[in-house]
Amino acid sequence: MPDAPIDTALSARPAPTRAGGEPFTEEGSAEVVAASFARTPDPRLRQVLTSLVHHLHAFVKDVELTEEEWETAIAFLTRTGQMCDDVRQEFMLLSDVLGVSMLVETINHRTGGTSTESTVLGPFHMVESPPRELGDDIALDGKGEPCLVTGQVTGPGGEPLTGALVDVWQADDDGFYDVQQPGVQPERNLRGLFTADDDGRFWFRTIVPRHYPIPDDGPVGELLVATGRHPNRPAHVHFIVTAPGHRPVTTHLFVDGDPYIDSDAVFGVKESLVREFPVVDDPARAAEVGLPNPFRTVHFDVVLLRTDSPHVEAQPAAQPAHLQSTVVQGAPS
Ligand code: BEZ
Ligand code: FE
Repeated sequence: MPDAPIDTALSARPAPTRAGGEPFTEEGSAEVVAASFARTPDPRLRQVLTSLVHHLHAFVKDVELTEEEWETAIAFLTRTGQMCDDVRQEFMLLSDVLGVSMLVETINHRTGGTSTESTVLGPFHMVESPPRELGDDIALDGKGEPCLVTGQVTGPGGEPLTGALVDVWQADDDGFYDVQQPGVQPERNLRGLFTADDDGRFWFRTIVPRHYPIPDDGPVGELLVATGRHPNRPAHVHFIVTAPGHRPVTTHLFVDGDPYIDSDAVFGVKESLVREFPVVDDPARAAEVGLPNPFRTVHFDVVLLRTDSPHVEAQPAAQPAHLQSTVVQGAPS
């Protein structure tokens, strides 16, 4: 008589036990739940879940969370998820205002003080930035205070990175990105993908950006109101700079003196990224650069780490910004 078919998946399972082998108690709750993940085959997933459980349980015990508060938190997270769609990522915003996005960014892009610091990507980057010529004016509607941006992309030893790609985007004079105002601002207003010259230099014309609020009409906005926080980000120009053989950097150039420079809603400001935008009152220079007189100016040099630098080897490889999950083409509504 042939053997009965064996269900290999079932027979491979261990004999059923309680999740962690020990009964659940208040004191031992984290250990019991963490033990339930002890056989997780992926060691990194096991490490992350075990740590998460320990921190979550410690937090619940620390504040002695009430059932009402727990229900409020579940409802908040539910509304946060319901607010998400193709153009609005409310969970990312929550991560931003809790400082988690900046912490992950900073941990994963340590520079050892040798290259330009990174900051959050934000939701307004376009995967396909419009290529522009050096010197082009990206302020397509001519609204705002004219500004000349100059800079040089180098390696850590000051070697110019010929042909580096400099992807920039910014809000307008009223604090809106083009994708937030379709039909109001021209498409691709205040965006450009520049190719640095033989000396790694880049320059373009634009306007001085203005501070603006992050989308605050959802649960994250409610959190900010309930905690007496404002939703504003200080004025900035976004940059993604890439060059072969070097680690890309996703960063901002912040306008010194902005009223929110010390209280960015998403904690994105790093001291090394703040620059003055002085006024130039020089008709000859204005004519030379193709701007009305007077105009503002700013210089922003970008230093990229080599991919074979120890700082890069010691960390996960940087993901090209256009592949990051935060990239959304469109307007948070
Ligand atoms: C931004 O700078 O575009 C941004 C960053 C984080 C949240 C919202 C906006
Ligand atoms: Fe921004």
